[in-house]
Amino acid sequence: MILTEEQKKNIKTMCVVTYANDLKERQKKGQFFTPPELIIKMIEKFDDLDRDFIDPCGGNGNLLVGLIAVGVSPESIYFNELDENEYKTGVKRLTELGVPEDHCTNFDALSDEFEEYYKNASMSVIINPPYLRNIHLKILKKMIDIFIKEENKNEENKKV
Ligand SMILES: C[S@@+](CC[C@H](N)C(=O)[O-])C[C@H]1O[C@@H](n2cnc3c(N)ncnc32)[C@H](O)[C@@H]1O
Repeated sequence: MILTEEQKKNIKTMCVVTYANDLKERQKKGQFFTPPELIIKMIEKFDDLDRDFIDPCGGNGNLLVGLIAVGVSPESIYFNELDENEYKTGVKRLTELGVPEDHCTNFDALSDEFEEYYKNASMSVIINPPYLRNIHLKILKKMIDIFIKEENKNEENKKV
């Protein structure tokens, strides 16, 4: 899909890269958040926005704020982040925009708790994973296992 100039402007206004942690901590945790220009490109990869979305490694919530900025209902937004400091920032931003608090979780995306909490959910994943050793590959594989329905798995596995 192509975003309108108005939608792009909203993303540029609402999506700000700020960090709760210092650089040393961020490097340990793979915390490099997505800037507005890239958020626009990522959102344009979807055919439509008529669905629920989760960011399992949500940082300060920037990708999800981007979706709200282009008109996705806050009720359709789900946020997970492992780091407690960034999680708090993300929850504050997102709940202020109307995302229900029980759509926000503070799990390790690779944990059984994460899988248990989300296993029956039907939603699309928007993600910029932490690039640390091969953790991004493990997280992407896990998201396919949880969120991609059986009939689409072969296609999605080819992409990873
Ligand atoms: C590259 S940042 C992207 C953040 C956000 N999605 C964005 O695009 O701005 C990756 C995030 O994943 C988080 N993270 C790292 N390991 C994680 C894990 N095992 N489970 C959940 N989040 C994790 C980091 O703390 C960091 O905030």
